[in-house]
Amino acid sequence: MTKLKVAVIFGGRSGEHEVSLVSATSVIKALNPDKYAVVEIGITHEGEWFAGENCLEKFKKKDFGSLRPIMLSTKPHSLDFDIAFPVLHGPFGEDGTIQGLFEMFQIPYVGCGVLASSTAMDKLQCKAILQSAGVTVVPYVGFNRKAWQKEKETILDDIENNLGIPCFVKPANMGSSVGVSKAKTREELMEAIDFAARFDSRILVEKAVNARELECAILGNADPVASPVGEVIVGGEFYDYKDKYVDGKARTQVPANIDGETMKKVQEMSLKSYKLLDCSGLSRVDSFLDRDTGEIYLNEINTLPGFTSISMYPKMMKAYGLNYEQLIDELIELGIERFADRKANQIVFDPGVEWYKK
Ligand SMILES: Nc1ncnc2c1ncn2[C@@H]1O[C@H](COP(=O)(O)OP(=O)(O)O)[C@@H](O)[C@H]1O
Ligand SMILES: [Mg+2]
Repeated sequence: MTKLKVAVIFGGRSGEHEVSLVSATSVIKALNPDKYAVVEIGITHEGEWFAGENCLEKFKKKDFGSLRPIMLSTKPHSLDFDIAFPVLHGPFGEDGTIQGLFEMFQIPYVGCGVLASSTAMDKLQCKAILQSAGVTVVPYVGFNRKAWQKEKETILDDIENNLGIPCFVKPANMGSSVGVSKAKTREELMEAIDFAARFDSRILVEKAVNARELECAILGNADPVASPVGEVIVGGEFYDYKDKYVDGKARTQVPANIDGETMKKVQEMSLKSYKLLDCSGLSRVDSFLDRDTGEIYLNEINTLPGFTSISMYPKMMKAYGLNYEQLIDELIELGIERFADRKANQIVFDPGVEWYKK
């Protein structure tokens, strides 16, 4: 049997570079060597691409010397593989940019396409689309850095009047809670916006919710399925970067200890949102359950969620009935299916009238 050549791509330019190396370690370990031949491709913090023997181990040691640089201009698939598996989180990995590169070179790949990736990555864009289709999102105000620099007082008044303080401030395009803060006074709000503005030119401020944090794993292309809902039980004030990766005070529970009706509602909202954004392959859809009012808010969609064997996405898919190896097989199948479906699109068009040919 000829083996399918899978290029696992890791590292990347985002702040989640190291997380990606951990995710990629699990993915590579789980690719059945009887079925797949793995091609390891790493992207450095600076954006240089490398391939070669033990590329992942060398990336962990930042030892790039013996690796082979890849010139993107001479086609990444001169490397000879059948499908790309980007295990990259955050900007330049999860935001549609690398997906665009695969599209240009007609390379099949695992996960969401350009449109879904970029829409899900931008919290303002994502919320606008969900909201317009009737999905409940936390009330928010959005603006750009230039506007903030010009009219601070007006923006602060608008936030205080419409959302109130405390509130959450976030850069629109980030992940892993980078740039996210909770502001409890007008003073802190100003600092929090200045801080978020370092990471992105698009900023959003949300009403603070006294929230339980629920997550749902969605898998599939045209007919996606939803896993049982899981919960992240946060240690500190909110689920910040330290809580996610440094001291790990957060606990997770799959399935979440919620009633059947809430479970069903979160699954339905998550599936609806996945379809609205035209996601494919996988996404982890995160929601808030308001402890005070019982309201459920759709918080965000992660198109390339943490993917170690103990990450929430694989854990929730396990509760659904797919173990880690089966999940990886399924994701590769879905990537191939999506590619075939896109290939079926006719891109040339001859309307059969004379003026068109001139
Ligand atoms: N409106 C909000 N109310 C309460 N907590 C929030 C709110 N927005 C974000 N948080 C907290 O901040 C964390 C990170 O925010 P999130 O929008 O999920 O960004 P990221 O993409 O970085 O994960 C959440 O997991 C939650 O703990
Ligand atoms: Mg989040």
